Amino acid sequence: MTPRSNAQLDLRRAINAISDVIQNRPQPLREFDQIYMKAGDMVLQTSLIAQRFAGRRLVFIGDGDAISVCLAYLMHCKVLEEGPESILVLDFDERIVNAVARFADQAEMSDRIKSRLYNCIEPLPEELLGQFNAFYTNPPWGASNNGESVKVFAERGMEACGADAVGVVVIADDKLVPWSQRVLAETQRFALDNGFFVQEMQTNLHEYHLDDAPDLRSCNLFFRSHPDRELPKKSYALHEKRLEDFYGREQNLRVRYVRDTNRVDYGKAVLGTYELEVLGESK
Ligand SMILES: C[S@@+](CC[C@H](N)C(=O)[O-])C[C@H]1O[C@@H](n2cnc3c(N)ncnc32)[C@H](O)[C@@H]1O
Repeated sequence: MTPRSNAQLDLRRAINAISDVIQNRPQPLREFDQIYMKAGDMVLQTSLIAQRFAGRRLVFIGDGDAISVCLAYLMHCKVLEEGPESILVLDFDERIVNAVARFADQAEMSDRIKSRLYNCIEPLPEELLGQFNAFYTNPPWGASNNGESVKVFAERGMEACGADAVGVVVIADDKLVPWSQRVLAETQRFALDNGFFVQEMQTNLHEYHLDDAPDLRSCNLFFRSHPDRELPKKSYALHEKRLEDFYGREQNLRVRYVRDTNRVDYGKAVLGTYELEVLGESK
């Protein structure tokens, strides 16, 4: 089959492929701000990021949404003809790390996408410093810490990148929600102070399975590295102050890893959540 250009995406094949990825995602843990993007937006986001980051070595700082897997899989199935050259997913949730590895193994695309357990509280492992030229993060949105959690995730992405780098931060964007506008401003200021500048902002774009704020959308905030940026030589652990209200008011960052204890077959009903009443057998 001839691959199409990303601009002429075969929607039916793209949606079906993304539906496979969604089946493989672990159930989100709301207390760590795991709030998944809706399917239609995942299709568009994947196509958009594939074009923007084509040929790049891309690192994800956290990826419950599984945009990383969508990118690798749509390229693998030739639904997308271009995209990143390689992908590494870093996440503190072992269920997510394992879900990426399991899907990659089954689809025979482990050469294209890898995953690794990492908590952004810790210094970025030395062997990853400056090894990438693109980063993607959809971090905790920083409503209660004035964007500090966004800065932490973005900082790790920037540290992972060497020269001539680009990145995208996916965060809340609603002009009627003042904290989201404050966080956007803080994030842009932070990027400028750290050798990156805003290249483009695609405003009010994605929707989420977020029951208490179903209308709150996020934007794509794209950054490019400044030509005079000092390249990262060392990474440091986070100090205590930056862990406060990380996932919301009084929800400090205090968990090192979420461990995968009892593997379930994602996409299938979990035993114990239903029972069968057989025909002719009354209770
Ligand atoms: C915080 S959520 C943001 C919402 C996003 N739509 C999602 O659900 O993926 C993004 C990812 O960051 C991961 N994460 C949360 N805290 C982390 C930490 N301290 N270090 C590394 N990853 C973390 C989560 O497991 C999740 O996969």
